[in-house]
Amino acid sequence: YCGIVGYTGLNYQSAPILLKGLQKLEYRGYDSAGIFVPDVADNMDQLVKEKGRVAELVDLVDRSDVSGTAGIAHTRWATHGVPSVENAHPQMSANERFYLVHNGVIENYLELKHKYLTDVPFVSDTDTEVAVQLVAKFVEEGLTTFEALQKMTSLLADNSAYGFLLMDDQEPDTMYVAKRKSPLLIGIGEDFNVVTSDAIAMLDETHDFIELNDDEIGVIKPESVRLFNREGEEISREPFHVDIDASETDKGTYEYYMLKEIDEQPVAIRRMLDKYFGDTGEILIGDQILNDIKAADRIYIVAAGTSYHSGLIGARIFESWSGIPTEVHVSSEFAYEQPLLSENPFFIFLSQSGETADSREVLQNVNRAGFKSLTMTNVEKSTLWREATYALPLMAGPEIAVASTKAYIAQVTLQAILAYALSDRIDLDLEQELSKIAVDIQAIVDDKAVFEKVANELLVPAHSAFYIGRGADADVSLEAALKLKEISYVQAEGFPAGELKHGTLALIEDGTPVIALLTQPKTAGLVRGNIAETQARGANAYTITTKALAEPGDTGYVLPDVDPLLAPLLSVVPTQLLAYYTSLGRGLDVDHPRNLAKSVTVQ
Ligand code: F6R
Repeated sequence: YCGIVGYTGLNYQSAPILLKGLQKLEYRGYDSAGIFVPDVADNMDQLVKEKGRVAELVDLVDRSDVSGTAGIAHTRWATHGVPSVENAHPQMSANERFYLVHNGVIENYLELKHKYLTDVPFVSDTDTEVAVQLVAKFVEEGLTTFEALQKMTSLLADNSAYGFLLMDDQEPDTMYVAKRKSPLLIGIGEDFNVVTSDAIAMLDETHDFIELNDDEIGVIKPESVRLFNREGEEISREPFHVDIDASETDKGTYEYYMLKEIDEQPVAIRRMLDKYFGDTGEILIGDQILNDIKAADRIYIVAAGTSYHSGLIGARIFESWSGIPTEVHVSSEFAYEQPLLSENPFFIFLSQSGETADSREVLQNVNRAGFKSLTMTNVEKSTLWREATYALPLMAGPEIAVASTKAYIAQVTLQAILAYALSDRIDLDLEQELSKIAVDIQAIVDDKAVFEKVANELLVPAHSAFYIGRGADADVSLEAALKLKEISYVQAEGFPAGELKHGTLALIEDGTPVIALLTQPKTAGLVRGNIAETQARGANAYTITTKALAEPGDTGYVLPDVDPLLAPLLSVVPTQLLAYYTSLGRGLDVDHPRNLAKSVTVQ
């Protein structure tokens, strides 16, 4: 987790650029933030840190009169040590010469502290302070700053994850960067260069970035970027261009990113249609990918959280349209409890960020075993993009709210397109069906007032809530419950409707909200029975049904009819809006749910 940015230039003040960058990175963590700017003119170091959100740091920096043309900054999601000013980054060495920001976790930091630093006074509980004190110690022993960083990183346990950005106040225009597992990009400008853990934080400065690979070190000055491999040999790498408009990362007139991103879902589907369908309806996915998947005897979909939930839907579509057996796995489980694999597996990684550490762990095992893989991600050039055999973009545009919405829609859509390309032409015009779905989603998001009212009446006062459904509706129930609990803190469970009576029904009390998804004709009658069972125990039932399955006495919302396998693209949208308005109705910060961060780069 955590977001880091750095800037070194000839002409501009660094602090405003760094703070703006931090605000864009706040989704990566928001329990404390800090900035370090060396002031060459006054030969003074300026270190400002604050507990809480970046806005509070901005106020403090405004009052502190920080000046200088280089600097590093950090927004934190606590791993070691509670959120506090002491534990906020940058962490400083005891000799007040080195300043370090860090994204990741150092597994063996206590061991290193006891081995090398017993005589050094510590002010924080962080693993990061150990890293910066080690650099200072090695420099005091005679190494250069570069060598000290190299030595420090070589001592870190293999499981450690880090993106480091280091400054030495003796070289106030220079930033040192190093990374393993955590993402780090170097942005290239004229008369300046930047460092960031996500390109979107620096799009106002540059669109050209160089990715740093694991175990590499970079030395960055206003007019030069030098990269070194783990052996210390200089290497070169061309920048890539990020084709995102900086305005796409703005909230515009919206109060929260989440609502903006829900509203962008029809556009996301249309962009996918443009990207993946040719003029005559042919699918534009390379033959090599399709042939490799066709040659496989089983598809393994690996993902976490909301992406895992979209994989559950994808697996149904792959099996049904392409006939290839498909399994879906949670990456944090698969990484350490790998199931018995088929003889010729093909792996699909689903990830909005392309950086989820658990998924990367699996991908590295897959690569070591020599199996082929495809990443579907929203972030081109991300780690999972680069390390898989193939990659396809999701085209959803930057997703900034912590709760994922449009990436889920894009993942289901892209899996459907791929399954369609693998099938022997099933009897469906997918392009037309998806265009219609985009229009239908537009109609649902235009009904915001309906969901605001239902959320306020049904969910805002609730302690717990249930989503139920069968088949694809059971999968959407999981996603609906996750969305509700993560941003509104209502205890929510998603359940296959038929399983309720095997235990969970005991939790239904007078007034408990039970929201039933009814889009699957095959099982709709059974789900009706399950709804009645909950109502008989006092549940407050609400239905989200397709038109064909609606009944006159329903209290609920009616969706247009749609192919049952693609129904999740519609049924998930009301559940996103219900979660949004429940969070809003409870007076919570929708985009920044407590304890969470968006891109989960620790295991
Ligand atoms: C929930 C949510 C998370 C992510 C999960 C995987 O709203 O956003 O559950 O889906 O952390 O992240 P990605 O898709 O970036 O691999």
